[in-house]
Amino acid sequence: MRSKFNLIPLALLALSFINAAPMSVFRSDVPPEAPNRSIHEKPIDANNITAPYPENKGYVSNGELHEEPPKPHTPAGGLGLDEPPVYHPLSDFDYQSLSIALYTEWIELDLFRYALEKFSLKDFEDAGLSKADRELVAYMADQEVGHATNIYNMLGPAAAKPCTYKWPFETVKEFVRFSKLVTRIGEAGVIGFIEHLNSRPSAQLLLQTVTTEARQQMVFRQFEGLFPMPVWFQTGITQSMQWTLQVPYIVSCPEINNKHPLIWQVFPGLFITNNPNSTDPRFGPAISTDRPPLSEGGRVVEFEFEKPGKKIGPDDQYTTSTNAGQPKFAAWISQLNVTYTPLDDVEWSEPNGDEFKVGKATTKQPYVPELYPGLTTEGHPIINGTVFVALVDEDVFVTPANLTELNQHIVAGPALYQSG
Ligand SMILES: *[C@@H]1O[C@H](CO)[C@@H](O)[C@H](O)[C@H]1NC(C)=O
Ligand SMILES: *[C@@H]1O[C@H](CO)[C@@H](O)[C@H](O)[C@H]1NC(C)=O
Ligand SMILES: *[C@@H]1O[C@H](CO)[C@@H](O)[C@H](O)[C@H]1NC(C)=O
Ligand SMILES: *[C@@H]1O[C@H](CO)[C@@H](O)[C@H](O)[C@H]1NC(C)=O
Ligand SMILES: *[C@@H]1O[C@H](CO)[C@@H](O)[C@H](O)[C@H]1NC(C)=O
Ligand SMILES: *[C@@H]1O[C@H](CO)[C@@H](O)[C@H](O)[C@H]1NC(C)=O
Repeated sequence: MRSKFNLIPLALLALSFINAAPMSVFRSDVPPEAPNRSIHEKPIDANNITAPYPENKGYVSNGELHEEPPKPHTPAGGLGLDEPPVYHPLSDFDYQSLSIALYTEWIELDLFRYALEKFSLKDFEDAGLSKADRELVAYMADQEVGHATNIYNMLGPAAAKPCTYKWPFETVKEFVRFSKLVTRIGEAGVIGFIEHLNSRPSAQLLLQTVTTEARQQMVFRQFEGLFPMPVWFQTGITQSMQWTLQVPYIVSCPEINNKHPLIWQVFPGLFITNNPNSTDPRFGPAISTDRPPLSEGGRVVEFEFEKPGKKIGPDDQYTTSTNAGQPKFAAWISQLNVTYTPLDDVEWSEPNGDEFKVGKATTKQPYVPELYPGLTTEGHPIINGTVFVALVDEDVFVTPANLTELNQHIVAGPALYQSG
């Protein structure tokens, strides 16, 4: 009786799949043969992992319990386990960091709504996307309503309200390309500061937000026919890097925003004049696409950059600034690692049209094949996907949790480089 009952909907489902089958399946004419094996084929040899037992701040990481568990099945330690969670900022650092995240949510909300208003279903279809794809963008806009409300409530009544924006796209393809960058910035911004928040409960809610944004970013890559996730680790950036990248799109904000400007620095603008073009008519939207790399190590990358002092952002409330000396290196922020390449042909010129755009430089895209010494990412170099590049005066060693040490060395940027 029961199985008969189940058969009917299944049959209907099968039928609807047949109806939905596309008439022609997209096939690229340049199919590099897909590697069908993992580059780390062999199981990890546990006897050949030579890490010592680390001892940090007195804790010996050797698998033993060092304290009596306070409750059954509850190891000693951990933070905030015995107190009611506070989903609100607990410091100025928290407030300013949550605020920049809120600005990001408002940006994304407006961006998706604007695109839905500007582009019809036919526009989406002409770009190779479907009704369901357009619905997915609409769903993303709704997600942004949830994200913005969430952070707004954490911040309270002085929180930033939505602003007006200018969007640099005219077509659906350009919208997709731009949204891939905007969601990348949002994702990397939260990843960069979440570790340092005083309010861990707020951090948790943000984490639950940013994992959604990361999925959005991946969807935009898939819409563009790019390999969906060409890295092993998503990178973080500092708040000032995030603000530098976002502020140029904000035109004007309500008074309450301007009453409490964000503390973050806006670095002078950096522009990559020969960014690889990720739009290629031979590759359409797909879950995953094999296509030739957009760039490779050794490629000459050309920059133009601004001098500080430019009024920018909402109602020209912010002024670009730098604390660094002369530009000497390009800092490539990708995955867990900042890699430096020397700048060549640094040139200061007379302003030409734009009084702030005075510098030019080139560098060579690095080839970084190892994530850790001995752990190769062969075929998937660390510089892949959308990476952040800034011009700096010194090649300081930084790791994900102390990336802010780089802020004082930034001459211009970051800019987004579409390496793959
Ligand atoms: C994929 O696997 C097949 C059979 O296992 C093998 O013949 C072929 O060379 C592999 N292709 C690549 C790119 O590894
Ligand atoms: C241990 O791993 C390294 C790096 O993968 C390798 O070069 C070396 O041959 C291995 N040693 C043994 C004893 O397996
Ligand atoms: C990228 O390539 C596409 C397809 O060839 C072209 O339509 C588009 O104008 C290019 N975009 C840029 C910024 O060069
Ligand atoms: C980026 O990753 C993709 C997918 O693994 C790979 O095909 C491509 O060659 C990589 N790009 C670069 C620049 O290495
Ligand atoms: C990034 O990683 C590569 C490979 O391990 C290493 O050679 C390089 O020194 C690292 N760069 C920095 C700044 O940590
Ligand atoms: C950042 O942290 C690393 C340890 O992970 C340390 O070696 C490095 O010196 C720090 N960088 C700066 C600029 O303080």
